[in-house]
Amino acid sequence: MDDAHQGRLTRDGIRIHDAGDFAGMHKAGRLAAEILDRIAEHVVPGQTTGALDRLITDMVDQAGATSATIGYKGYQHASCISVNHVVCHGIPGEKLLKDGDILNIDVTVIVDGWFGDTSRMYVAGKLSRKAERLIQVTHDALFKGIEAVRPGNTFGDIGHAIQAHVERNRMSVVRDFCGHGLGRVFHAPPNVLHYGRPGSGPVLEEGMFFTIEPMVNLGRPETKVLADDWTAVTRDKSLSAQFEHSIGVTADGFEIFTLSPAGRFHPTY
Ligand code: MF3
Ligand code: CO
Ligand code: CO
Repeated sequence: MDDAHQGRLTRDGIRIHDAGDFAGMHKAGRLAAEILDRIAEHVVPGQTTGALDRLITDMVDQAGATSATIGYKGYQHASCISVNHVVCHGIPGEKLLKDGDILNIDVTVIVDGWFGDTSRMYVAGKLSRKAERLIQVTHDALFKGIEAVRPGNTFGDIGHAIQAHVERNRMSVVRDFCGHGLGRVFHAPPNVLHYGRPGSGPVLEEGMFFTIEPMVNLGRPETKVLADDWTAVTRDKSLSAQFEHSIGVTADGFEIFTLSPAGRFHPTY
């Protein structure tokens, strides 16, 4: 049910938020981004992803916030950590990071009821040339998508901008996972596809909140989920990368709620 205190829903079921809601998202997004800033120094060869997740859990607790992922559909961790050919939803554990591993760390926190969801890439030790290229193309694809965010454009314009950049660079966009609306809920309409045709899909309106979180593979786009029911990997074992921001549509463009306070969103600059 729609609620007078929560703004209206569009015909596509997308909630329209007000100025106070932007402030709530800004606070939640900033905490998620700060946690990703602070974990960076711990990403080194010999570290386990489980230890990284324990540090993240402590940071969420110390901030007086709540992890959105602990208890979500039975998931038990404060982060997803996806190494090398893991596309997303990697479960933190006791496997050791080794020199040259690339990994995505994805954190979602709840602050005053608002959800901040962001992920970025890290490298343990020395970055290989091919991983560097994959990370750069994925990062730039996210920002091409973000630059298409303004009232009057469509979700298809976002997806098209991402897909065009990735395929120009002879890499592939994962189809099996997408971004999502969020706000006072974790996953809301619409599905934000990272591919598409210009002008297709719902029209963007001021006050919409959603994530853009493209996953890009060096090889083919197909994925499969392992027997743990979470870990998604590339079928061809090729390397995969992902970046994610939580975004709000403003009168003349966008606000990124999950900007890195330290300016460390990209792993090498
Ligand atoms: N943070 C992820 C996203 O970007 C969702 C993780 S759900 C989990 O939507 F249960 F796997 F943590
Ligand atoms: Co997300
Ligand atoms: Co996420």
